Amino acid sequence: MTSEPPPGQRTIALVGLMGVGKSTIGRRLALALDLPFRDADQEIEIAAGRTIPEIFAQLGEAEFRAGERRVIGRLLLQEPRHVLATGGGAFMDSQTRSLMKQKAITVWLKADLDVLVRRVGRKATRPLLIGKNPREVLQELMEKRYPVYAEADITVMTDDRPANAAVESILSALKRRLEPAAS
Ligand code: S3P
Repeated sequence: MTSEPPPGQRTIALVGLMGVGKSTIGRRLALALDLPFRDADQEIEIAAGRTIPEIFAQLGEAEFRAGERRVIGRLLLQEPRHVLATGGGAFMDSQTRSLMKQKAITVWLKADLDVLVRRVGRKATRPLLIGKNPREVLQELMEKRYPVYAEADITVMTDDRPANAAVESILSALKRRLEPAAS
């Protein structure tokens, strides 16, 4: 239906669980590559005129997922090459995933459960965690999502390393992918 851009011209889309650092790492990666940065969650909030917790509470998760699909579709099909941080559930949607695989280089940021639990603890605004035990939710999401996240083009373990170290790992992996002859 739509053409596949050559790898060197593709948007770089970050996937992975909540708390792994997609936005922080994405912003720094964009700076390092001199590309614009887009945060899908932020774009969804702008499009809906509501915060993510408001969308979940007032419209429900299905409506949020539909908005997420539309927004990521627009970013991938209409915006020039950029670094895109996606919400943790975006790559689980088969339509969004197939578009991301076609139009972007996908990077799975991966971390151990303890690291994620520590990181999400600092932010009490994530609808999937409100009123729940974050360790249990994240453990369940890992079981469901890791086999699908593993379909990403590149996997980078972030763990407790500073964001810049993850950025360096992504840059090396991109280089290997884009200039195979030089590695
Ligand atoms: C979600 C992750 C969130 C946000 C929404 C749903 C998920 O984004 O999109 O709360 O399903 O994992 P972050 O991964 O940026 O926290």
